[in-house]
Amino acid sequence: MSQRETWATRAGFILAAVGSAVGLGNIWQFPFKTSAYGGATFLVVYLAAALGIGLPAMLAEFVIGRQSNLNAIGAFERLGHRNWKWVGVLGVGTGFWILSYYSVVGGWVLRYIGGSLTGAYFAGPASYFGSVSAGLDALVLHAVFMLLVVAIVAGGVEDGIERATKLMVPSIVVILGALAVWVFTLSGASPGYVYFLSPDLSQLSLSVSFDPFPSFSGPLTNVIPFAVSQAFFSLSLGMGAMITYASYVGEDQSLFGDSITVVVLNSAVGVLAGLVVIPLLFVQGVEPGSGGAGALFISLATAFAELPAGRLVGAVFFAVVLIAALSSAISLLEVVTSYVVDTYGARRPRVAAVLGGLIFLLGTPSAWDTAWLTWFDTLAYQLLLPLSVLGVLLFVGWVYGRPAVEELLSGSSLGQGVGATWLWLARTVVILAVLLTLWLGVQTLFLDGAVVPPV
Ligand code: PHE
Repeated sequence: MSQRETWATRAGFILAAVGSAVGLGNIWQFPFKTSAYGGATFLVVYLAAALGIGLPAMLAEFVIGRQSNLNAIGAFERLGHRNWKWVGVLGVGTGFWILSYYSVVGGWVLRYIGGSLTGAYFAGPASYFGSVSAGLDALVLHAVFMLLVVAIVAGGVEDGIERATKLMVPSIVVILGALAVWVFTLSGASPGYVYFLSPDLSQLSLSVSFDPFPSFSGPLTNVIPFAVSQAFFSLSLGMGAMITYASYVGEDQSLFGDSITVVVLNSAVGVLAGLVVIPLLFVQGVEPGSGGAGALFISLATAFAELPAGRLVGAVFFAVVLIAALSSAISLLEVVTSYVVDTYGARRPRVAAVLGGLIFLLGTPSAWDTAWLTWFDTLAYQLLLPLSVLGVLLFVGWVYGRPAVEELLSGSSLGQGVGATWLWLARTVVILAVLLTLWLGVQTLFLDGAVVPPV
């Protein structure tokens, strides 16, 4: 095998990891899932999950990736545990699944850049969303988005990905921050802040009964699977992405420090997007929960239609969202591409193109009808993501064990105690929390009948 590429700089890796993490998950999914599933309650569970489960799980993925120096599937084999390859396969499969509809939403974003410039949505933001979010329009833009992703991945790690992500995070923070300030000045926004930021403690409850299987009830049953999986989704966990990215990292770098940076920045961007979108929904009189997948697009389009220089602001905003979406989508495609390139020694550009084509095909139903998109998304949240993260934690916690601590500590000045605590937590509390998430997800999936595809 030829010499593996590595990141040019330490900042390169952090930026790419942040670039992978910050994406439509934060800007599109987070506000709409928050407004659909309980507002501040969702926020509390999400933040707790990001720190309490996401951080340890991210460290687990970093360790697997750096130690093995290989792609997300090959890694398990190289670490001497062939039987655990299924975890990698599940992760890569989950990434494949998610990218198929992620790309459809990326296509919407492309459309909204144009729609802002021409003012096409100014007259009727809601009906505009309805007409461009499904059907032939959406399909064509889904194809264009996927082509862009393929082009960047084909270029290789340093040239393509590293360069594309450097400017993105600062621009996102600046634009979202400015919008948040503007929203704050609007009348009618305040109930939005209450809904988003002040949790009703009575909603944070969950009860369990055993007859004979555990069955849960209470307000949190619905919130947990979505909020915890939202943390996984937005941190790019359970899809082999962080394994793959960490495989390009040197032994002299502190994985611990890097992962904290990623978690904090990522959650901050999500909350910032929430501070823009949720109060806006209230200003516009949209009932929380009824915004759906169009919440971001409709609420912001309505806002841009009212703003002075709205066309320009809108176009710039959606352009930045596009960059965020691209840098995330790149890392999803990179996972599969790197597996095929490592394993079969095939040429990177060709592999990226073929895989991109397959993912495009898988996404066609979602582009055609948003009911399919919702179905793909629900299955990812309630089943695939928690299952896949569970696999990673079981592997690192119970199978790989001690060597993982050594790998974690390499390149950092942390003491053994921190490493041992991490491993112990990953083995116990964190795994239990993921099990609960999975159980609740599957429970609601079957109770609602949401497993049945919308044919
Ligand atoms: N974390 C990305 C987002 O929030 C999505 C993603 C998941 C990207 C997994 C890569 C890998 O949009």
